[in-house]
Amino acid sequence: MCYFQNDQYGYSMQGTPVATYNGYRVTLNRIHTSTLFGDDVDTVTLDVTFDTQSRIHIKFYDSSEDRFEVPLTINGADPSPPSNPLYDIQFFNDPSFYFKVIRQSTGAVLLDTSLGGLTFSNQFLQIATRVPTKTMYGFGEQEHQTLAHTFEWESFGMYARDQPPDPGANLYGTHPFYVSVEDDGKSHGVLFLNSNAQDVTLTPAPGVVYRTIGGVLDMYVFLGPEPNSVIEQYNTAIGTPFMPPYWSLGFQLCRYGYGSLDVVKATVARMDAYDIPMDVQYGDIDYMDERRDFTYDHTNYAGLPDYVKQLQSGGKHYIIILDPCITEDDPAGTYPPYDIGASMNVFVTESDGVTPASGRVWPPGQCAFPDYTNPDTETWWTDQCVDFHKTINFDGLWIDMNEPANFVAGSTSGCATNALNNPPYKPKIWGDILADKTMCPDHLHKLGNHYDVHNLYGWSQSNVTILSATAATGKRPFVVSRSTYVGSGQWAAHWLGDNNSDWHDLKMSVIGMLEFNMFGIPYVGADICGFNGDAQEELCDRWMELGAFYPFSRNHNGLGYKEQDPAAWGDAFAARSRAVLRTRYTLLPYLYELFYTAHTAGTGIVRPLSFEFINDVNTITIDEQFMWGPALLFSPVLYQGETSVSAYFPDARWYDYANGVELGTRGNVASISAPIGTIPIHVRGGYVIPTQEPASNTELSRKNPFGLIIALDDSGSAVGQMYWDQGDTLNPILSGQHALFTFSAQNNKLTTSASGSSSIMSSMTMGSLRIMGVSSSPQSVTVNGVSKSFTVSNSQVTVSNINVVMSGSFEV
Ligand code: NOJ
Repeated sequence: MCYFQNDQYGYSMQGTPVATYNGYRVTLNRIHTSTLFGDDVDTVTLDVTFDTQSRIHIKFYDSSEDRFEVPLTINGADPSPPSNPLYDIQFFNDPSFYFKVIRQSTGAVLLDTSLGGLTFSNQFLQIATRVPTKTMYGFGEQEHQTLAHTFEWESFGMYARDQPPDPGANLYGTHPFYVSVEDDGKSHGVLFLNSNAQDVTLTPAPGVVYRTIGGVLDMYVFLGPEPNSVIEQYNTAIGTPFMPPYWSLGFQLCRYGYGSLDVVKATVARMDAYDIPMDVQYGDIDYMDERRDFTYDHTNYAGLPDYVKQLQSGGKHYIIILDPCITEDDPAGTYPPYDIGASMNVFVTESDGVTPASGRVWPPGQCAFPDYTNPDTETWWTDQCVDFHKTINFDGLWIDMNEPANFVAGSTSGCATNALNNPPYKPKIWGDILADKTMCPDHLHKLGNHYDVHNLYGWSQSNVTILSATAATGKRPFVVSRSTYVGSGQWAAHWLGDNNSDWHDLKMSVIGMLEFNMFGIPYVGADICGFNGDAQEELCDRWMELGAFYPFSRNHNGLGYKEQDPAAWGDAFAARSRAVLRTRYTLLPYLYELFYTAHTAGTGIVRPLSFEFINDVNTITIDEQFMWGPALLFSPVLYQGETSVSAYFPDARWYDYANGVELGTRGNVASISAPIGTIPIHVRGGYVIPTQEPASNTELSRKNPFGLIIALDDSGSAVGQMYWDQGDTLNPILSGQHALFTFSAQNNKLTTSASGSSSIMSSMTMGSLRIMGVSSSPQSVTVNGVSKSFTVSNSQVTVSNINVVMSGSFEV
């Protein structure tokens, strides 16, 4: 066992903490003379700020020298000190310095850093905290094998990497954030706001040992106390998720290596022939002329501009991929994106600050990496996007390879030997050196060394690209990014990367989706049917069932593998995919409402059961089921050959979405039949869910009548909301161009209230109701006083053909 002797290691407090306007300042002097990695900072300042009632900010920094800090605006600190904070902080010098953060109401110690001495050296910063329980979720991006961590010394490296999901590998993004559940079910979250290469180890203490190789130790604690409020507080701080255009909630199709426009056309045509709902077709790098951004292949993709318009006239949308690395080897004057970029000095340079750093990615020759932290790059990138939009009328942008990926280590001329490129401590990340698969750490960006800003590459590109997409399309933008960091969700969606077409990665996608909802990027999904490898039919079938309920529902395939779009497998498969996607489309108004709540309040969309049933310990480790908001529970089949699911149903009334039948089980596991083509979906009593008649795409479905599912709880009540707007307008919330509805059912009566734009409301029609859990058959049903016909089966009352314009309140 190796430990730090705390009278000889760490820092000691100089005097007593000094009270500040809204917190404390503590000066810490180094007591250890021995050093782990050298260059220790002698005097460290600790600033503690009581940001809000539920948020405390704890920041250690070098008292004498500025160090790199992440330029993310943390929103929402109160202007004056909170009157009744949920937390207390205590400082100790016993014999070296440590602190505790305590939940006032219960005395639970959320953080206790007596576990190991503080280390603050130039290239190694460590803080170790004892945490209250072993129930913890988060830290990414990793392919975690379980949602709840085990605390058996597992380590997670965080350094954005072009890395297909492999257990234990650091993947595309960096999210140093966790949610911890205390003994009584209350939750808190902790963010380590740092962008250097870093890792964390979870120890049986239970403890969290956090290490980073640069910047400052900057922590935010969010005290919830409900897990959903932890996520709201976190997202409010880092920037709430963007409001997606409605069409982007439709089903999407992609593959790497269609090879020609004819194949794309044939694929879309067979989707249409089977009438499988679909909103988006993608162009992966093979649409480009030799994989150069802002070009298209005039031979294999001749006619692409017209085809895109044709898709759009049929209600579909087209998204193109863009990679950051810009070829620099074309003859001068032949490839303007590089020539203009070079003249504007937008590229990341070598450590001399002058020579563009050269790498190799997809385009021919060497390529240069745009520095998205440079304001001139925003101008250049936006100009390129706006210009190219005149050629290909794209609706959204897919930004890939932005870790940034590099097919050579560091640069085409390697990396110099120095302390940045070869730091004394290499966090537990894959590759022998930091430059593995990316740039040299000593390369220079406007914002700083690549060493400090590597993890911010995709983040800064997302921030710029959402502006470029808006400028190009003039509509509500859509950007999906492979690399993400804290706060990326305000600008971009994410997919879980180059997964395998296997059962393992099908199951892992549920965990990944739940984690990204905690990280503030609820618009997430995995490549349906898998990216690497030939998908097998049963797997792909099950994946279509699950993927129909990812927020980001896209079937995407890798180069050279067997076709796997839902129309590729024949009639029976197509019919099953059609049915499951029609269920998705029926539920899109509810998903849109959840996005509205995510955008305005920061709430997660896809949630683990444990976030909704906080006092039910059985839910803590459940990661094969997931919820949409509070009201819908999905229990997908994740194993080969199975035709039923053993699913857990917490103590509530649950109704089968398909037929309204109430489940006989609550607070227990039930075996649910799920033959191929079905995914068990249950509606939780107590909620009203807005729906809409499905169609082949959202342009058409949006013209259909709405419906409501009213699922009654034990007291015969249910509540819900709905948000609606024109679907792709800019700023619908600020401009008031939207409608909001609240629904409340009680004592056999549904009341609604509506507010917002009258022109939007008057364009909406309520068509049908499904009332689940009715105790006895009603004698009559009236809508706004007018009698309506209805049917009753399985305690479900169905009222069709209501035909009420939703321009005012209505009553049932
Ligand atoms: C890597 C991406 O992860 C994948 O989705 C894409 O198809 C390929 N790059 C080719 O662009």
